[in-house]
Amino acid sequence: MLNKNILIGVTGGIAAYKVVEVASRLKKLGANVRVMMTGSATEFVSPRTFQEITGNAVFVEMFGDAAHFHVAHVALADFADLVLIAPATANFLAKAAHGIADDLLTTTILASDKPLLIAPSMNTKMFLNPSTQENLRILKSRGVKILEPASGNLACGTVGKGRLPEPEEICAAVEKFFAPKILVGKKILVTAGGTIEAIDPVRYIGNRSSGRMGYEIAKSAANHGAEVVLISGKSELEPPDGLKFLKVESAVEMREKVLSEFDSVDAVIMSAAVADYRVKNISEQKIKKSAENLTLELVKNPDILRELGGLKKSQVLVGFAAETQNILDYANKKLVEKNLDFIVANDVTAEGAGFGVTTNIASIIWRGGKIETFPKMTKADLSEKIIERVADLLK
Ligand code: C5P
Repeated sequence: MLNKNILIGVTGGIAAYKVVEVASRLKKLGANVRVMMTGSATEFVSPRTFQEITGNAVFVEMFGDAAHFHVAHVALADFADLVLIAPATANFLAKAAHGIADDLLTTTILASDKPLLIAPSMNTKMFLNPSTQENLRILKSRGVKILEPASGNLACGTVGKGRLPEPEEICAAVEKFFAPKILVGKKILVTAGGTIEAIDPVRYIGNRSSGRMGYEIAKSAANHGAEVVLISGKSELEPPDGLKFLKVESAVEMREKVLSEFDSVDAVIMSAAVADYRVKNISEQKIKKSAENLTLELVKNPDILRELGGLKKSQVLVGFAAETQNILDYANKKLVEKNLDFIVANDVTAEGAGFGVTTNIASIIWRGGKIETFPKMTKADLSEKIIERVADLLK
């Protein structure tokens, strides 16, 4: 981030106050931060606050000061390595999607050919309104990066999607934007989520995987310039933008999809929680409740990663070992048996690690016995570590 030039455009949303923290963090990371505000944004936060935080004059007025007009809308468009709009109102999205330039910020955007990262924030109905969704689609189709709003309590008293992500998340997205493109020209296959194994048309056997680790790895690989295929089992997460996304249910289905991609990829990172067993005879009808005991016969699923280990030519193969005991021993055994380059091992029972949480505590075990142990970190940060190592192996 050192000496990166970032122009932050603040529009008139209640979440504008959070962007003070964003500006402050980016500055601390070494970036040169300039802020431009719409008139309505100044109703929520004073330009003086941003001025104090960034150490730079804040631009608001289109025609306020003739001497600064040129500087502001053309020079600032040129100054930026990245333009971040946060919070972006529905009004701003509509103007940006349709080339309307009726204030300093929208004029600057129109005069800029610099990468744009937009963090929308608004009332849920406004966000879900087909107009807003269409405007987002238009912007995305032009390569604009959209930071999806979070769900939660909104300032208008409703609950739903529309919250501005927290400052650390916005800053992480900015940092990712500047991530060195260490995987350009490489194709990476990532699996994520848990497979589900049908019992009957209604029930299934599943597991607690949220898919978060794999989705973060896929995002990280894409951020570093890779062509990414994400094959996902069950997960509630939104498919990340900018990659090929294939949804599957069972382990057998995941195997088929993985094998159909395998020959064309440079690396496979298998973070999916694949069920070891499936139901032998899936009932065609819903099983009725009658007997006191019900026995399901299970048969072993194919071990996808082990199969890849056998087929592997030059591909880098990374596995995961989610364990509850003897972590390093079990992980090491899998590393060898599945012919992997390295394996990411974690104790899924430890607090702040494993299923359903945003952090993980992991070790990376290499062939030859080297072990790297990491402290608790976000899954996003751990995915960076994994991707850096895959990139090194692919060099
Ligand atoms: O053997 P175990 O299930 O613990 O191995 C975990 C690793 O193997 C993970 O990377 C997982 O995605 C992969 N795996 C697989 N097919 C299975 C089971 C696990 O590819 N049937």
